[in-house]
Amino acid sequence: MSEEQIRSLERQFDERIARDEKIEPKDWMPEKYRKTHIRQMSQHAHSEIVGMLPEGNWITRAPSLRRKVALLAKVQDEAGHGLYLYSATETLGISRDEMYEQLHTGKAKYSSIFNYPTVTWADMGAVGWLVDGAAIINQVPLCNTSYGPYARAMIRVCKEESFHQRQGFEIMMKLANGSPEQKELAQDALNRWWWPSLMMLGPTDAESVHTEQSMKWKLKRKSNDDLRQQFIDQTVPQAELIGLTIPDPDLKWNEERGSYDFGDINWDEFWQVVKGHGPCNKERMKARIGAWEEGEWIRDAAMAHAEKKQERKQKQAV
Ligand SMILES: [Fe+2]
Ligand SMILES: [Fe+2]
Repeated sequence: MSEEQIRSLERQFDERIARDEKIEPKDWMPEKYRKTHIRQMSQHAHSEIVGMLPEGNWITRAPSLRRKVALLAKVQDEAGHGLYLYSATETLGISRDEMYEQLHTGKAKYSSIFNYPTVTWADMGAVGWLVDGAAIINQVPLCNTSYGPYARAMIRVCKEESFHQRQGFEIMMKLANGSPEQKELAQDALNRWWWPSLMMLGPTDAESVHTEQSMKWKLKRKSNDDLRQQFIDQTVPQAELIGLTIPDPDLKWNEERGSYDFGDINWDEFWQVVKGHGPCNKERMKARIGAWEEGEWIRDAAMAHAEKKQERKQKQAV
């Protein structure tokens, strides 16, 4: 294809996105669009399945049958989100094996929030309320993103995320209204998860390298700092409602802006965790790689079974 032809295709492509048309797997797309989507969507898929680990940690120790059922359902939802997203990413021409390989060798990232430990039951509340809460803020705009398979997957994912957020908030509410020890557990979990949740919305706009192009492709509708502000403004009144204190002495309502001012985020900590030096990075990767290796026999058995069935079918057809 000549350069001119490519430029003309690119122009048509940009016009389609501007008209809010969806781009489908067999449509022509610029190589950069395909690569950026593979990176973002696979990173999202990896985050869903690595995100199962800190909460899976508490399934056997949930304090009641009701809590256990809800947590189990939530963790199962995350597995489902991972599966939709891996499938959607495969439509861009990368195999699932390649994506796992990238995760296991550290070439692909997952959300750094999942490298923090879940040390008490209250962490199940804080994670659902804050981590899933921040995820919703990030993901709702993606329901309108330009790549069809991603946008459609996100509609269902977001509906399930709002259940996750509510089950987390309900755990926090119950603990905050319980005995002094229970309230302390809730406050302690909020203290530990608040700042990492703010970091989850990504580096400040000045340091975010992909923002401009992603905005053009509607892969991003608001900047990281705007999303963070939205998260803070929505979460502070929820903490007040249940009598918990946000661990930020600089947090203050700004009448003029109609938003909360907040203290400095420790970006050194964020980059340390992203680079693999968070409290649980090694543990998470060990669990993922272990699951992949120990699951080899079942993948092999499933393939052998499928081949046998296929052979039988062919014999019958003869
Ligand atoms: Fe999810
Ligand atoms: Fe979730």
